[in-house]
Amino acid sequence: MTLDDAKYIREQVMNHNKWFEESIPMIASENLMSPLAKEVMISDFADRYAEGLPGKRYYQGNIFVDKVEIKATEIAKNLFKADFADVRPISGTVANMAVLFAFAQPGDVITTCALAQGAHISTCEFGAFGQRAVKSVNYPFSEEDMNIDVDGTIKLLKEVKPKVAQFGLSVFLFPPPLKELQDTFNEIGCLVWEDCAHVLGLIAGGQFHDPLREGVNIVSSSTHKTFPGPNHGMLLGANLTEEQEKELQKAVFPGVTSSHHLHAMASLAVTLAEMEVFAKEYAAQTCKNARQLGESLYELGIPVLCPDLGFTRSHAIAVDVSEFGGGKDCAKWLEDANIICNKNMLPRDTSAVRPSGLRLGAQEMTRLGMKESEMKEVAGFIARVVKGEDPAKVKEDVKAFKKQFDTIKFCFNEGEKAYAYHKLVP
Ligand SMILES: Cc1ncc(COP(=O)(O)O)c(C=O)c1O
Repeated sequence: MTLDDAKYIREQVMNHNKWFEESIPMIASENLMSPLAKEVMISDFADRYAEGLPGKRYYQGNIFVDKVEIKATEIAKNLFKADFADVRPISGTVANMAVLFAFAQPGDVITTCALAQGAHISTCEFGAFGQRAVKSVNYPFSEEDMNIDVDGTIKLLKEVKPKVAQFGLSVFLFPPPLKELQDTFNEIGCLVWEDCAHVLGLIAGGQFHDPLREGVNIVSSSTHKTFPGPNHGMLLGANLTEEQEKELQKAVFPGVTSSHHLHAMASLAVTLAEMEVFAKEYAAQTCKNARQLGESLYELGIPVLCPDLGFTRSHAIAVDVSEFGGGKDCAKWLEDANIICNKNMLPRDTSAVRPSGLRLGAQEMTRLGMKESEMKEVAGFIARVVKGEDPAKVKEDVKAFKKQFDTIKFCFNEGEKAYAYHKLVP
């Protein structure tokens, strides 16, 4: 590796930064970290190892790491009113693997949603569920409501008697009907697990729903989607036995992690502290923005799913662009106009590479300070591209619009540049 190579790589990273600075970020699974969260990310924590739990490490050198991890766990429990928290999983998928390791044996049945209904690949045969060799059985799903069908699910749960009932989606528009299923969970005695990767930041702010108060025993999550922290993961628990909590901790280490990316754990701790202060306002504005985006697109003649239900109760909306060329082409044209989003399967789709939908998220735009009036403008840009206007022309308007939104909100360093980078090149 020469200095030129290093310079080349740095240049590409800076090109990316500049591009995002000039773009509208709409990927529903992404966000912007706060400056303070980023600062601890590049500390010496990034170069160290810790295995096990605070006070019971396998390595020396963890005196301050332990303090941070104890604090992070304490804030997580407080923020989510959880009995149990583990801040060590290094991603949402790894958190899911830990749950599977702890509570399922090969051959066990777990009920879950299907991919075309918005589930994440971890719950598929070719994802973490398959790796653990569990048998997954899918809930009946109402396409109209974009949610689990309650009566059909009660029947299915009674028939199948899963060891674990799993919930949570990647296209997560409405909360699962947990209260309606509670009696059935009690009757069959299953554990209830929800993957809240997409909606953790909303839950922190009292929006969407409150899984641990609605019968969920285990929440697994990423910490970088609506929750605006580092690429990392987390587990939360309620009403677990001491033995179950220990099983979960053992599944995290030595089950699915060795060291747990201490810099990201510290960055998560900072974000948890920030969310204790800012989550309420941030989550409420995010949900308002998503609904406004849905409404504005719909008014502009772009079909958005679930108009009768207000489009969404989360940060995300699902848009059917089949009549405009499909999700694959529309996502590419939008990228050419500096609007970054992803193609997505809608319930009747059979192809993940040529789906009919787009998934759009409002959380990162909210983090940059956009409100309902900006959602109307963003919908206008999207409609122009999808309906066939030259993306290069729209791109110029997007760049001008985005100039007003280059600082970060809902954190202790509010107002600092969102796309700052360190100048260290020799
Ligand atoms: C519901 C859900 N769970 C888990 C994940 C995986 O998260 P990670 O990338 O942190 O492994 C995703 C990713 O988007 C997701 O949508």
